[in-house]
Formats: sequence, structure tokens, C-alpha cells
Amino acid sequence: MTQTLVHDGVLVIGGGLAGLSAALEAAPRKVLVVTPAPLLEACSSAWAQGGVAAALQPGDGADLHARDTAAAGGGLVEPEVTQALTRKGRETVEWLAGLGAPFDRTEQGEFAVGLEAAHSRPRVARVGGDGAGRAILSALVVAVRGAGHITTWEDGRLRALIQDDAGRVRGALIERQGRLIRLLAPAVVLATGGYGGLFAHTTTPASLLGEGLAAAWLAGADIRDPEFVQFHPTAINIGLDPMPLATEALRGEGARLVDAEGAFLLGPEADADLKSRDQIARAVHAAMESGRGAFLDARRAIGTTFPAHFPAVFAACMRAGIDPRLQPIPVAAAAHYAMGGIVADEEGRTTLEGLFAVGECASTGVHGANRLASNSLLEAAAFGRLAGRAAAGAVDIADRPAVGPTTAQDLPAEALGTLRQTMSRDVGVTRDGVGLSRALDQISVLERTVPGALPLITARLTVQAALDRRESRGGHFRSDYPHALPVAHHTVLRRAIDHEPSSAKPRETTP
Ligand code: SIN
Repeated sequence: MTQTLVHDGVLVIGGGLAGLSAALEAAPRKVLVVTPAPLLEACSSAWAQGGVAAALQPGDGADLHARDTAAAGGGLVEPEVTQALTRKGRETVEWLAGLGAPFDRTEQGEFAVGLEAAHSRPRVARVGGDGAGRAILSALVVAVRGAGHITTWEDGRLRALIQDDAGRVRGALIERQGRLIRLLAPAVVLATGGYGGLFAHTTTPASLLGEGLAAAWLAGADIRDPEFVQFHPTAINIGLDPMPLATEALRGEGARLVDAEGAFLLGPEADADLKSRDQIARAVHAAMESGRGAFLDARRAIGTTFPAHFPAVFAACMRAGIDPRLQPIPVAAAAHYAMGGIVADEEGRTTLEGLFAVGECASTGVHGANRLASNSLLEAAAFGRLAGRAAAGAVDIADRPAVGPTTAQDLPAEALGTLRQTMSRDVGVTRDGVGLSRALDQISVLERTVPGALPLITARLTVQAALDRRESRGGHFRSDYPHALPVAHHTVLRRAIDHEPSSAKPRETTP
């Protein structure tokens, strides 16, 4: 029998940087953080190598950072929310440092910043070269463990959202140790991450299957731009799943992309490999498809300093028998980040009362069609904090009965494997109508055997939106529509709140 529990506070689902930032800032309101695995596991934030993008140096500023963000975003970056984010750069880095995140410093004690692709200034605050994500998240985990207002369940999986008959979100159905629990709370914050795990080739934890996005969609929340998936050009291609990352900062330090013969993939100019991430990913993908191969050559630019400056990448290479001081690193493009997601404002408010969304599962408008490197950790912490404070103000409206699903459908491993292969083959770096239609057919086949499985819903939304977008923009490239339309438009998917979870097809694409 499904148990019902009432939590009089904020329910945060997800334990990455966004979720934990929200949990900390919701104090003194009580917070329950539910994650599918122990904190620091199964979240992308802990794997981030780059750092936190913020205007920290003289000569840089929030306006310039916002301009770079917009330039990378293919015409779909929302200016106001982006300004709000970039203005929070220094404050956010200082907050994280205050919690104990050991950012790299200059001799003068300032934050040391690195250059990443498409930033016009060095502005990525790093930790230990390439260890930013784990170090920052570790500091937050210590703070969370010491915070009296926070309780964690580190073995709970989101299965559905619970609503009242007016559509207000009243809690979530959580699976814990094989048992379903209806957990009622005045505010639910989704911080469930992206959906890189829907792809066979990904740099994210494979367990990230877009389940939060699907649950929000079924509840009637607006979803925006799910077709915009960012592919990272330098996933280390050594047959591992997920694929270890070779951070973009390596190219910021002068490492070059070459083919098997040593010819430059993007040209000999010093900044050729620092174009926006979508352009680089397409070049790497094309080199792989043509059989030329793709490699990141750090021998000259980084050489013997590799172990000290990029210890995580160095360790990943050495485990695979590749010494990056002596040989180029084999790379391929892999699904890395979802730009779209659940429509949310900077305080995480979605289109459903009682529901907040933060971090990668949210679409706040700052990433457009192509996220600027290292803006995601900034967004996760800065907007996560705002969402925590906003959610803390939510009051329970218990005058209507909470309704919603009491069962959940899992996607068996074999079906997930088929889906992942399909997504990487047909919904990858280069797409076309034939491949996208084939992917939809495959999803329909899987839906017949496992109707209502959350990963299939997110996959369908992504593929249908990619098929409907008959242009190329940012991370979405269609070989049959290789140019951008003159006017950029968002995809907004809206589902009537009828509480019937069977209908997961996008109904509306609005300009
Ligand atoms: C990287 O370090 O290359 C990844 C950073 C990011 O995805 O923002």
C-alpha cells in the first residue's frame, strides 16, 4: 500500500549544485532533499571540470558576460534574466568560497580565472585546475550535513508529481527501497538535472533520464526548447559509458584539435578551436564520420604540466593507457547539457503553482540554443539560492484533496539501451527529418510495451520538437535545413491539465 507523509516545508528533489543551493537558502524553513543516490553521486555538477563563469577581473563586467552569453545562444537568450544572472557572478562565487569551495587564487589572493570557448575574457573561476564541480559540491554537502533545517533521503526516486484538482502541485510520489510514498509538501523544487542519459554517448551520469522534466510535463507545466541539447566536442573516446570529459579549458590553454594525421580540424589560427561549442562539436563529429578521427593534442601547450594543471583529465587518460603529455587524446562529441527544460523564472517559479525548477532541468532563458561554457554552475548556484528563498515562502493550501498517480512504470534496461542508441544515432550532433521520424517510430514501439515511462516522455518531447524545428540553430543542426530562420523562436510545449498521463505528444509550438 502506498504510504502518505506530510512534510511541512520545502521538498527539494535532486542533490546537485542547484538543489543544494536551494536547500541551504530556504532556511529556516524545514527542507527535505530527496536524491536517488548518496550526495555527490549521480549528479552532473560534481563532474563539472570547468568552473563558475563570472566577471571577476578588471576589464570584465556583467554586461560583457551577458553579451557573450547572448552571442553564443543563437538568438534565443532572454536578455533580462541573463543580466540578472551575470550580475550575480561575483556574489555567487564569493558565497561558494564562503562555504569552503577552495577556488584557485592568484598570488594577490584574487580569484584565478581561465578562458573557455566563446568567452571574450578569461572568466571561469576554477578549483584545482579541472576539479571545480566536485570541490564546490563537496563544500555544499558539508554545509547541508551541518544544517539543522535540512533532512536528506539519499535513496528516493521521483516517480510523479501530486496535485490538487486545481492543478496546484502538492507533493511528489517518491519510490524508496521499492516502496512508493506520497510525500505532501507546500512547495516542490525540481532540481533533477538534464537528460544526457537518454543518449548512448554522454558525458553526464547515465542515470539522468529527464524524469523531472517528464513529471512536470505530465502535471501540466510548460516546457521550452527541449530539442536544444549541447554536445561537448571533447568527450574522451575510450569506450567508456559515460564518457569522461576533457575540459574546454585545455583548449583555452592552447591544446589543439587535430585529425589522425595531425591536421587541424578547424584551421591553424590560434583561436580556431575556441569557437562556440556547437561549431566545434560539428567539426569533431564530421571528422569522426569521415574516418579522419578526432584528437585533442595538448603535448605542446600543456605537456609536462598536465598532471598538475588538469589532474582529473590526466587520471582518466592514464587509466585508459593514454599519456596526454606524449600522445593526442582521442575525442568525440557527446551529449552534455540540455539547454531547454521546464519553463521557470529566476526564482525557479514554473507555470504551476507550488512547483519550482532549478538547474539543468529548468529553462530560465539564459542558455538559448547553445549554453556558454561554465554558465551552468553559475546559474545553478545563483538561481538555486533565489528559488530556495522563494519556495520557503510557500504556504500549504490543504483545502483541496491531493490527487495523482499512485503507481509508476519503469523502463527496463533493454528498452533503455535501445532508446539510448536511437537517440545518439538519430537525434545527435547532426539530425535530419528521416532520422528524427525513425526515432519517433522507435519511441512509439517502446511506448507500447512501457506506456508512461518518464524517460520515453522526455525523449518524445525532445525528438518531436527537433522534428518540428525546421532550421539549424545553436546545438540543433539539421542537415536538411542547414540554415537558421531569419527570426528566432522558442518552442513552447503546453499540455492541458487533464491529469491523464497517457498523452505525451507536444500539442503546441508557438513562435
Ligand atoms: C568543460 O569544462 O569543458 C565543460 C564546462 C561546461 O560544460 O560548462
